[in-house]
Amino acid sequence: MTKNITWHDGKVSYNQRCDNLGQEGMVIWFTGLSGSGKSTIAVEVEKELVLRGQAVYRLDGDNVRHGLNSDLGFTAEDRNENIRRIAEVAALFKDSGMITLASFISPYQETRDFARERAGADNFIEVYVKADVETCAKRDPKGLYEMAKKGEIKNFTGISAPYEVPENADLVVNTKELSVEAAVAKVLEAIDKRQAWI
Ligand code: PPS
Repeated sequence: MTKNITWHDGKVSYNQRCDNLGQEGMVIWFTGLSGSGKSTIAVEVEKELVLRGQAVYRLDGDNVRHGLNSDLGFTAEDRNENIRRIAEVAALFKDSGMITLASFISPYQETRDFARERAGADNFIEVYVKADVETCAKRDPKGLYEMAKKGEIKNFTGISAPYEVPENADLVVNTKELSVEAAVAKVLEAIDKRQAWI
């Protein structure tokens, strides 16, 4: 922690921001292998929520790595720093009252737990986008599995880098069995339920 810094309170509370938006701030955290369907589902959920008039913003691994995290690679250390920064950004979005959709491989349980803690457990839904490595490698939408198998990409999740399966996901969406529409419906239902009791 940097020395000589002091928290500066504003005159507007979190509850006032939420009242203005007519919703609670939330973080919906999509985790899963590359090609599991995280981004596809998050994009559709974002579209549906916007059509309903809700305030929503989507943070995506590939996109954030173009800017904020363009200095980071795929070592365990860099992935942890990637998720640490995103967890902080997502918590800020949540504090602004937004429904925040974060889709990152986020392979380590510890950093996903950190994201939950920063957002506040009540306002956080961890969605495990479940598809095994064989299924994802078959889909291979970006040709990355092919390259990883040839050794052209190092530290590739599921091939040459680990993925820790979520122990306590709030929702599991098995994209081997569910259509995109069905997966999106499950996520929207989870958001609606949570909005009702927070
Ligand atoms: S992480 O593990 O959470 O830090 O990864 P993330 O920020 O979500 O970035 C994942 C996307 O980066 C591309 N990519 C790789 N993924 C995994 N391993 C390696 N080595 C790698 N190199 C590049 C890939 O397009 C990932 O996007 P998704 O949407 O998951 O397929």
